[in-house]
Amino acid sequence: MKSVIEKAKAKFFQMVDDFGSDPFRLSPHLFEAEKWANFMLEKYPRADKEVVLLSVWLHDLGHYPVPTDVDHAVRSEQRAKEFLKKQKYPKEKMDAVLHCVRSHRCRDVMPQSFEAKIVAFVDSASHMTGPMYLEMAGDDKRRNCELRVYEKIERDFRDLSSFPEIQSELKGLYAAWKKLIKAYERIDFK
Ligand SMILES: [Fe+2]
Ligand SMILES: [Fe+2]
Repeated sequence: MKSVIEKAKAKFFQMVDDFGSDPFRLSPHLFEAEKWANFMLEKYPRADKEVVLLSVWLHDLGHYPVPTDVDHAVRSEQRAKEFLKKQKYPKEKMDAVLHCVRSHRCRDVMPQSFEAKIVAFVDSASHMTGPMYLEMAGDDKRRNCELRVYEKIERDFRDLSSFPEIQSELKGLYAAWKKLIKAYERIDFK
């Protein structure tokens, strides 16, 4: 029998399949996030493993279809709730997962629980160790618009702040991304 985490994983890939493409490159992002989550869970064994891993697989479930005016954290929370209810997931743990999902962007709702802080961290850290920034810069160049990626790098680095020790280890990578994107931006073709 499949575990609830495996079912959440399948649910995520179903969303991507249903949309028919993955313009936000969520599939590689989620694999990278899963790696970071396992790293954090090993480092902080007091965190609830199931809550963290479920939240990782459900946190971006609201992305597709696009375009939409709804914040994907809100839509992810709604879909995660429907999914967990169907699984008859215990109410208390469900609330814990939903908080992680809703607060993962560190915007209007901030992560309060330890697990939510891990999920927000994992979301940002996985951008730093994946190809997303360069791809985002490429997309903006093709559209001839200002590069949004600098702001994204800043936000991601800021959102690592719940774990200052690891944030400081990632400082070099953060600086390197900004340098790389600057060099890339100067190349004059679209
Ligand atoms: Fe997200
Ligand atoms: Fe994400």
